[in-house]
Order: sequence, then structure tokens, then C-alpha cells
Amino acid sequence: MDFSLITVNTEDGITTITINRPDKMNALNIQLLGEIDKAFDDVYGNDEVRGVIITGSGAKAFAAGADIAEFSNFTSEKAKEMSVNGHRIFNKIESCSKPVIAAVNGFALGGGCELAMSCHMRLASENAKFGQPEVTLGVIPGYGGTQRLLRYVGMAKGIELLLTADMISAEEALRLGLVNHVTTLEELIPKCKQILQKIMSKSPLVVDQIIACANSYYNKNEDGFELEIDEFGNCFDTDDFKEGTNAFLEKRKANFTGK
Ligand code: COA
Repeated sequence: MDFSLITVNTEDGITTITINRPDKMNALNIQLLGEIDKAFDDVYGNDEVRGVIITGSGAKAFAAGADIAEFSNFTSEKAKEMSVNGHRIFNKIESCSKPVIAAVNGFALGGGCELAMSCHMRLASENAKFGQPEVTLGVIPGYGGTQRLLRYVGMAKGIELLLTADMISAEEALRLGLVNHVTTLEELIPKCKQILQKIMSKSPLVVDQIIACANSYYNKNEDGFELEIDEFGNCFDTDDFKEGTNAFLEKRKANFTGK
């Protein structure tokens, strides 16, 4: 595939998407989001891919937000279009049946923080900084930040961060529950791969079901308990369930096939 603002590399079942605009702090312009969208089409359709890492190039930024220069002259109509498009792509990441980890290697601000929050997990290097500084620009977050930030850090802290534009360190993000782990910059990608490899040893069917059930906790139009009951029952029709339970009883490691 032809990408100019991201690089995409698949190795041992893990696709790494690297945002590649380091001279602009990896700011997410519309073309770049379109490339992430296309990269996820491949993730969705390619059975070889079992997990995804999204990261930023360079040692300074994961992504410092939507591209301010690009949207500064937008009309309200165009801005809504931009927001709808961003929501669609970030929902696509969140709904992915394969685990997606944000490897936050520096600033994750505005749309960058929103992108990280649309992933299933966030790992941060010690130099990472998180924030929603839109209020400073006279605008509100437009890629899900007013909703997902509260989901992770709760109302009290979330509304403080949204209203003050305060940036928080990786350690603070860990304390608040926004990130799963903090590592050195060198250890960031290896640690993401280690977690993905662990998940990849499980049944991909079950991984998909767990992601769907966990997502439904936040979906006001869905009953997560009902979905869990359905999916729990569905597991019993699969080869992977037979393999998993037999392997336990036979005291051996399960070999899941995704069937
Ligand atoms: N959109 C467009 N360009 C951006 C950008 C963004 N969100 N963030 C950074 N850049 C550009 C800068 O304009 C600059 O470009 P230039 O070299 O052509 O002037 C380049 O990236 C480097 O950024 P700079 O501000 O010089 O780096 P810094 O180390 O002094 O500061 C940040 C880094 C991240 C603190 C700062 O760039 C920043 O505050 N960015 C905007 C964050 C933001 O408000 N995001 C929300 C957007 S909705």
C-alpha cells in the first residue's frame, strides 16, 4: 500500500503503524488520518495480522494533535465533517477485533491523546506527556476526547484536564489509569510486543469476543450483560473452546486455531 505520512510494517503477526511527520510533531492532518483508516482496512481483512501497535516517529511526539494549520480556516460545516470522519476512524480502531496498543513515545496532545485513547491499551515512555489543550485554541476536542478521557480518568480529573488544558506526565497518567505501563523509550515497543504476543497465544475468537463485550460496557445502546451471555454460549460451539478445555484436562498447552 502507498503511504506517505505513516509507515506500516507487519512482522510476526504484529502490524506497527508509525506516524511519520516528526517535523510537525506528528500532527494528524486529514490525509494522515485517511492513511491510518486504510491501514486498518488491511488489519481488519488480513488474517495474518493478530495485533497492532500505533506509535510516532522520533523521540519527541506520539502526535501533538490535529493539524492546527490545516483546520484554522475551516467553516463550521467543514469542521463537523472533519469530526465525523475522525470519530468514524477512531471507532474503527476501538472496534477492531485484534488488540491495538498505543506506544506513546512523547507528546500525545489533543487528537494525539484521542487517538491513543481509542486504542485498547496505552503504554507510555517516561518522557510522554498527555493532554487535551483544545480549550486554549478556543475549541473543544473533536475526536472523542470529551467522552473517552472521562472513561479512563473519571469525571473529576477528566473535566479538570479538559477545562485547564493541563498536561500530565506518563507517571501521572499511570496513576490516573490512563496508561497501562510506563517504560524507558527503548523498552516501549518491546514491551508492547511482549503483551501482544501473550494475547496472540490465546484464541483469536475469544480475544474478539472480549473486546466486543468490554466495548459494550461504554455503549449506551447495547446491553453488555446480554452480549456476554450470548458470546459465552457461542464459545461452546468452537474448536478453540474444546481445545482450551481439553488442554487443561490433559495438562498441556493449548494450540488455538481460531475455529
Ligand atoms: N498542528 C500543526 N502543527 C503543529 C502541531 C499541531 N497540532 N503541533 C506542533 N506543530 C508544528 C509546529 O507548528 C512547528 O512547526 P514549524 O517548525 O513549521 O514552526 C513544529 O511542529 C514543531 O513544534 P514546536 O511548537 O516548535 O515544538 P516545541 O517542542 O516547542 O513544542 C508542543 C511542542 C507539542 C508543546 C507544541 O508544538 C504544541 O503545543 N503543539 C500544539 C498542541 C495542541 O494544541 N494540540 C491540539 C490541537 S487540536
